[in-house]
Order: sequence, then C-alpha cells, then structure tokens
Amino acid sequence: MSQPDIDFDKIDRAALPALLRSMPKAELHIHIEGSLEPELIFALAQRNGVELAYPDVESLRAAYAFTDLQSFLDIYYAGASVLLKEQDFFDMAMAYFERAVADNVVHAELFFDPQTHTDRGVAFETVIDGLSRACATAQRELGISSALIMCFLRHLSEEAAFETLEQALPFRDRITGVGLDSSERGHPPEKFARVFARCRDLGLRLVAHAGEEGPPAYVWNALDLLQVERIDHGVRSIEDPDLMKRLAKEQVPLTVCPLSNVKLCVYKTMAEHQLPALLDAGLIATINSDDPAYFGGYINQNFTETFAALPQLGAREAYLLALNSFRASFVDEAARRPWVEALDRVFADA
Ligand code: ADE
Ligand code: ZN
Repeated sequence: MSQPDIDFDKIDRAALPALLRSMPKAELHIHIEGSLEPELIFALAQRNGVELAYPDVESLRAAYAFTDLQSFLDIYYAGASVLLKEQDFFDMAMAYFERAVADNVVHAELFFDPQTHTDRGVAFETVIDGLSRACATAQRELGISSALIMCFLRHLSEEAAFETLEQALPFRDRITGVGLDSSERGHPPEKFARVFARCRDLGLRLVAHAGEEGPPAYVWNALDLLQVERIDHGVRSIEDPDLMKRLAKEQVPLTVCPLSNVKLCVYKTMAEHQLPALLDAGLIATINSDDPAYFGGYINQNFTETFAALPQLGAREAYLLALNSFRASFVDEAARRPWVEALDRVFADA
C-alpha cells in the first residue's frame, strides 16, 4: 500500500468537493439496471413497443418515493422490462460508463441481474453480449476498465439460481464473480450456500448483499456459509461489536451506498449515516452509487453529499475511501498501481 507524503490537514474544507470529484476512484457496487434513467426507459419502451404504467418521464420520476427496499425493487424491475435486445443492454451500460468517466471512475465492477431478463424470455446470451460489448467499447473509447458480476435474485429459489449458473457457463470467461441481491429480509444467505460453493469451485469471485435491511446475522452467514470476499452494504454490522472486530481483523471490504441508504430509509438523514464509524473501526469501507438513476445521483454525488452532511469526514477520509476502492477491487496489484499513483498525485497537488 502506498504511503504518500500528503499533509491532509493543510487541505481546506472548501476544496473538498472539487477534490472528491477529481480524485480517481473505482465503483464496486452499481446495479447496471439501476443506472437506467427515466429518459432511456421511455426511449427503449418506444423503440421496443413496450407499454409502461406511467404516461411520461415526470410521472415515472415522481414515483421514486420509496419507503423500503421492496418498494424500490417493485419499480426497478418494472423499469427493466424495456430491455429486450442486445443493443438495449449495450446502450444502458454505455450511458453508465459515460457518466462514470465524467466522475473520474477508472474502474467499475458492474452487477447485473440475468433472472430479471431471462424470466421475461430474453436469452442470457442477449444480456451478456450487450453488456460485455459495452465493457470492451468503454475500455477502448473511454479508457475505463470494468468487470461483470452476475447476481442471483435471492427472492427466487436455489434451483433457479443453479439454472442461471448453468446458462452462464458458456460465458464463464466474461464473468468475474457472482453476487446476491434483491429482497433481503426472509431470504438469508444460507439459502444459496450450495450455489456459492459451486461458483467458488468454478473460480468465480464471491460477494453478497448483507446487512442492508437484514440483521448482522446475515453478514456472519455471508462470510461463513457463502465465503464471500466483500459485503455489499453491510451497514447494519455496526449493531454487532464482534462482527465489527471480525470485519476489521479480516479486512473484509464493505461497499457502502449512502444515497441508497437514505432513499430506502435505512437512515432518516445523511447526517445519521454510520460511514465515519465504520472507517474509525478500521473497516475497508468504500462509497458507491447502487442504483444511481433511482437514488438521486452517481458516485460523485454520493461522495459530495456524504461529506457535506458529515463534518467528521475530511481530506484524509476522502483519500482513504478512494484507496479502499482500489484495494477492494478484483483487479490485481499491478493494474491498480497506476490508479493509486494518480490518486497520490491529486492529493499531493491539492
Ligand atoms: N437490487 C438493486 N439494488 C438493490 C439493493 N440496494 N439491494 C438489494 N438488491 C438490489
Ligand atoms: Zn445493491
């Protein structure tokens, strides 16, 4: 790990928003279907002849007033119904990559939910072809590196997850890892222990959503029974001191999504967010956007709103969060080095 000679205390708080925006960073928790902006939903609906339950962009956006995770997921799955062709998946991912590059994201690990599409009759191949073509195009034309993480929907059965894994096997080389998302409460990690064991045997990297709405026990079980390398969200870990000690000792990264947590009412306000406490406890926390089209902003909006609401967070934490995003990524040390060097330069010049 680099230890640059940076005098964090000399950096003025007024300079923070610009620094947060300009620093290079990795995004490790972005559901690509959650980057589908209302304008693109309507454009794709028209292109594909899909009828939507809302007459226009404004009324769809007005429906983005969520009370919990499920109230969001209902509208998120409805939004994804406009995705039918390979070009639709490509266009969605390219729109995200353009926004990510504007936010100085140099590497993004994208979640995708194949079951949301295959259950509507869209072939797995259509989904993966569009997304992987966008990843290659984004690297070539925008210079952003990326990886794909296939998520199993935890409200569906173990059998359905195994079927999805079977469909993914011909494309194994395009998939870096697997994750677990959708409705958390009532769908504990252990439901997918055997699928994750098979994925581990296949050499896939493992992550899971846990401790977003679900209890700390779900984080323990994601670690012990699924053997994941990262926890997505994990903010409720703070309720369990023994779990906090373990996460710190084993340096298990948490991909935290502050705007998502406020939008889905995990915290009433950003000022109540526990990110500072997670960092203080020595956890490898990162900041991410989750579903940016639905939650009020992309990664830089997450950084700037979080820092604006939490005065405990300053330049030192900004640097640490960006560094953590590289350390927690599934990219090897050699590929990460230039990003960390660029990060050091941004702070040295601040
Ligand atoms: N799918 C998309 N966003 C999600 C989230 N925040 N939690 C669980 N599943 C999701
Ligand atoms: Zn998520």
